[in-house]
Amino acid sequence: MSPVLKDLREATGDSHRALEARMPFMSADLDGALYRRLIQAYYGFYQPLEQRLQAAGALEAERRKVPALLQDLQALGIDSHSLERCHDLPDVDDHWQLLGVMYVIEGATLGGQVLRRVIGERLGIGADSGGAFLDVYGPATGTLWKAFLKRLWDAETDAQRQQVVAGAHSTFLCFQRWLEQAGVLAGLAETAEA
Ligand code: HEM
Repeated sequence: MSPVLKDLREATGDSHRALEARMPFMSADLDGALYRRLIQAYYGFYQPLEQRLQAAGALEAERRKVPALLQDLQALGIDSHSLERCHDLPDVDDHWQLLGVMYVIEGATLGGQVLRRVIGERLGIGADSGGAFLDVYGPATGTLWKAFLKRLWDAETDAQRQQVVAGAHSTFLCFQRWLEQAGVLAGLAETAEA
């Protein structure tokens, strides 16, 4: 494992667990309407973030997830143009911070493999009926993740590693704030009791 991956796991594990616990995929409240709101919220965050990453020349075509989100919005009968976009985004000007941002959005595809099964079983939604984003890499998920992890070896100095961690931390924070604002997260009190 690269040293910075160890740092990332230590620094963002709590954020991941907190967010996972508050996302409504496993909750009794999950229904088609809530799923539609979730996909709209994902789009509102990923669309402007991917635009930034592309402007920074950091997002290869095969890692773009917005086309899958657009496909889902269309399948769910939602007009993407009217959707609110997030402006409080992580900074991608610094190469190392950008790597931390990528760690979070690439890592999220692993959870997607769990979630795509959940929405299939609970809502009957598949890749062609609104579930393309959660299975964005399909069978290539593991390969693309391993290829991404290789890039993390580039972060060698303490300063570089700190910037990577800062980028990842800020991505979790921004995404959580955005989802909170979109009203798709379960309440804190509810999570604490669970
Ligand atoms: C209910 C929602 C979620 C579930 C059930 C979930 C589940 C998972 C699972 C099963 C893994 C793979 C762990 C492993 O193979 O060791 C994973 C990894 C990861 N997830 Fe999530 N996840 C969720 C939401 C998210 C979100 C919203 C983000 C960020 C936007 C995220 C970021 C990550 C990252 C960065 C990793 C990689 C961790 C590592 O191996 O270093 N996850 N998640």
